[in-house]
Amino acid sequence: MKLTRKSTDLLIYNLLAERRMSGEEIGEVLGISRAAVWKAINKIRQNGVQIDVEGRRGYAIVEEMDVNPYKVASIAFRNLKFLDEVFYYTSVDSTNLRAREYGRPSVLFFAESQSAGRGRLGRRWESERGGLYFSLTLQPPLGFDDLSKLTLIAGLAVADSLPGAKLKWPNDVMVEGKKVCGILSEIHGELERPVVIIGIGINVSNPVPENAIRVQQFWYVDLTQVFDKVLKTFQHHYSLLVGGEWEKLRERYAEKCDTIGKVVKVITPTGEIVGRAEGIAKDGAIIIDGKKVYSGDCIHLRNYRSR
Ligand code: BTN
Repeated sequence: MKLTRKSTDLLIYNLLAERRMSGEEIGEVLGISRAAVWKAINKIRQNGVQIDVEGRRGYAIVEEMDVNPYKVASIAFRNLKFLDEVFYYTSVDSTNLRAREYGRPSVLFFAESQSAGRGRLGRRWESERGGLYFSLTLQPPLGFDDLSKLTLIAGLAVADSLPGAKLKWPNDVMVEGKKVCGILSEIHGELERPVVIIGIGINVSNPVPENAIRVQQFWYVDLTQVFDKVLKTFQHHYSLLVGGEWEKLRERYAEKCDTIGKVVKVITPTGEIVGRAEGIAKDGAIIIDGKKVYSGDCIHLRNYRSR
């Protein structure tokens, strides 16, 4: 289902999240008929929010599903200033695929589960219920060469949102050496005006393999709290990036990045590079033995000193 900032059902949900209100009052506030209010209330009910009605005192939210379209859209619109639309799916093939097909920027695609979740380099991303799966589309006022910084700051936003998290270049988020979040960035559209899709998958309470970890193993929070925190941090970092403050973000990224200071193997489309990861260059590349590398699959081999 699709929601915008002006969707009547979302506006009513937000009013009722504050307090009980009568149909008449809601109608007056929103400038719509009582029949329209009633119709929207039924739609909200059908989407996992229990609303009771008490005679003239009117409607109130009594219970809701932990994750539902209105809660998700409220969080998304509150945190992301540039956002125009939210698509919500209980199940979908892949939010990145939906984003690509839709084609427009400033949209968020959210899924409770994915049947064909996609990981980097053609891998699968297990996406059972309980995890956080969403894609954001952006058309940032940045040059083509700066677009990869967006992926880095998305990873940084997640790492900054989770206690004890570190980054594994380019944008895996790790806790206790295990992967908690993966990011798949894709670019489409015209070369002059590309649309960037940032797909984020965070293990929250979903089942994970041995080499991965989920948020609830180290932090007692629910999925929408994680979503809220990540979007807030992303908006903050994104504003810095488009405001020309990349240098601050680069420093912050380097501090959080566990890859720096390690001997690594990076598998790139043009071959393998083994060497010391020395730092993050001004243009966002990782520096390995003095050479810049822009993308690839990175394996940590050992620390400098143990060499
Ligand atoms: C990785 O391989 O580390 C990247 C995983 C990215 C998974 C997310 S989940 C939401 C979005 N939709 C997808 O199909 N993939 C990304």
